[in-house]
Amino acid sequence: MAEKRTGTKLSVVGAGAVGTSLAYAALIKGVASEVVLQDINAKKVHAEVLDLAHGSQFIPSARIDGSDDVAVTQGSDIVVISAGAKQQPGETRMDLANKTVGLMKKIIPPLVEQSPDAIFLMVTNPVDVTTLAALKISGLPENQVFGSGTVLDSSRLRWLVANEVQLAMGNVHTLVCGEHGDTEIPLWSSASIGGIPIDDWERQTGQLGKAVRDDIAHRVVHAAYEVIEGKGATNYAIGLSGTRIIEAILRNEHRVLPVSGMLDNWHGISGVCMSVPRVVERRGVGDALELPLSDEEYKGLKASADHIREVAGSLGF
Ligand code: 2OP
Repeated sequence: MAEKRTGTKLSVVGAGAVGTSLAYAALIKGVASEVVLQDINAKKVHAEVLDLAHGSQFIPSARIDGSDDVAVTQGSDIVVISAGAKQQPGETRMDLANKTVGLMKKIIPPLVEQSPDAIFLMVTNPVDVTTLAALKISGLPENQVFGSGTVLDSSRLRWLVANEVQLAMGNVHTLVCGEHGDTEIPLWSSASIGGIPIDDWERQTGQLGKAVRDDIAHRVVHAAYEVIEGKGATNYAIGLSGTRIIEAILRNEHRVLPVSGMLDNWHGISGVCMSVPRVVERRGVGDALELPLSDEEYKGLKASADHIREVAGSLGF
């Protein structure tokens, strides 16, 4: 009989660079009262748990545990899935699809058995495909399974634009939507700086003209490749992005974030998991907000959805 637990339990499946960075960020930000790591490599997960627990004195109190046994995730409020193949230099996220979906078929059913009421946050790439696969494999309601999507890409865009205009990131509102990958689209038409729509900002300051926007968009799409080329993987920013999503869930923030959930007639796009602005709260992913799109943005997002659907379809989803 499972002990009656109070507090909130976050389980991270996959104790690689991404999973451990997310657990580390979640502990530092005190988002859950219990953080658990699960990985098939017992020696690795034991060492990661020890290394995190040894820093307990310096972070908000939390119980830290881990195991190769999936039972350690029992009764989670949130299960983050970061387990999967590592993207090699030059490899696209979609190149990982086949082996990753095979892994999802293996690990998701026992995780759902341990925590049927948990919110499942997919991080494993290609995250839009793994989110759709997880939704189908788990049989859970659509609000309970979604992916980190383009929260990270939107952060990359905000950082680059804030640097360009030399203002605080809090004053820069920009979104990247679509695939978390090569077909993603920056939504310049709804971007604003200091509350000023970007086109007015350009007229007033001469900044952020088309050439600069195109260069920034290129740097966002290629950001992960640049980091992977240099250090073999990305981990800190995706760990922080995932933690931000977890905060929105556990604090029931009703926060609008570009996460990857099932779409149902969003600007006429249906039947695919792709990032658009969604309300994120304690029950998981909610309403998709139909923000206005330029014709070019609509075409790009439609193409992104078609690309994701094609890859997912080729794997039987
Ligand atoms: C990233 O964008 C590789 O999807 C990972 O950092």
